Amino acid sequence: MSTSQTPDQWHGQSPTPISPADAYNGYIAANVVFALDRIGLLDRMERGEALYQDDVDTLTTMDTDRRAAVLRAAVGCGYLKAEEGVFLPTETGRDIARSRGYFTWAVGGYNEVFAHAGALSTGTARYDEDVHRDEAMVALGSGQADQSMFARQVQQAFEGVDFETLADLGSGTSARVRRVVSEHPGTRGFGIDISEPATAIARRNIAEAGLEGRVEAVCADALDLLAPNGGIGGAADADAVMSFLLLHDLLADPSTRADIFPRMREAFPRARSFVFADTMLRPVTGLDDKLPIFSAGFELAHAMMGVPLHPRETYEELFRCAGLRIARREPMATPHTWLYVLKAD
Ligand SMILES: C[S@@+](CC[C@H](N)C(=O)[O-])C[C@H]1O[C@@H](n2cnc3c(N)ncnc32)[C@H](O)[C@@H]1O
Repeated sequence: MSTSQTPDQWHGQSPTPISPADAYNGYIAANVVFALDRIGLLDRMERGEALYQDDVDTLTTMDTDRRAAVLRAAVGCGYLKAEEGVFLPTETGRDIARSRGYFTWAVGGYNEVFAHAGALSTGTARYDEDVHRDEAMVALGSGQADQSMFARQVQQAFEGVDFETLADLGSGTSARVRRVVSEHPGTRGFGIDISEPATAIARRNIAEAGLEGRVEAVCADALDLLAPNGGIGGAADADAVMSFLLLHDLLADPSTRADIFPRMREAFPRARSFVFADTMLRPVTGLDDKLPIFSAGFELAHAMMGVPLHPRETYEELFRCAGLRIARREPMATPHTWLYVLKAD
């Protein structure tokens, strides 16, 4: 089993207490980053390319005054430098463009949940009735993080996995299952996601990549699949199962928690390899005077949705009880997120 040191960014970069000015400006900056992505500028910023005012104007038919205001705010945040009709990405601007997945996740996906944290806490609003997350944005943000931060590590993890048919639970926009199947000639895969909008994006992406026939996106609840007598066509063929950033949702109900991994083995009887990643509860000793990116938002959002988070030890005990041996365990770039390759011997 390989275990590496946890990356520096797990241990915090933002000093606390966060001052009023930093808290306020951080909120605005997060919205500006998300807006830059929606306008379509972050790919070029990530590559360090200059943005010419004329170019920017041809990118979209959107209101030019409002777009100019977003660019001005990005200059104010230090992400762009303005020089006579040209905007040059700064190093921090390139870095934030690379990190865009966190902003799509938080601003695009959980904006409503965070904005109603008070109402959810006082009981004047209820999650999933009055307040919702935007599932497509959550899936898109995760897909962006996959591309910029996880791709190489996932590729290495799959070097030890022999498979013909890969099932992906909570596959989002299908970014990962498409990539893994593309990297392994002769294989096929299918993704299962509960979100119709995410599945629609996935189907579009599969068609655009010319992978129809090799990769399929199915809209279904993985918990139904894992319920007794549940199941979907194709599950019996899968000889490898992957699930990234979903397991905490599957483990939310304490009455079925211990059954999830044994049921997964029954639902995928041919599967010998399970490649999992999830963000876990921060150890109490990890809470110091600096906040890492993502962790506090992830913990707050799930508390508001009533989804408990678990420490690494709980996952490993559940794996062990399901007869899944840990062949590989590694920290990922996102704080408190662990990647596992498990084997059913
Ligand atoms: C954080 S995203 C991760 C997406 C993708 N695995 C990735 O890493 O990029 C979690 C995904 O799980 C999906 N999801 C949540 N609950 C689910 C369930 N019970 N069954 C299937 N999919 C589910 C969501 O719609 C969302 O696309």
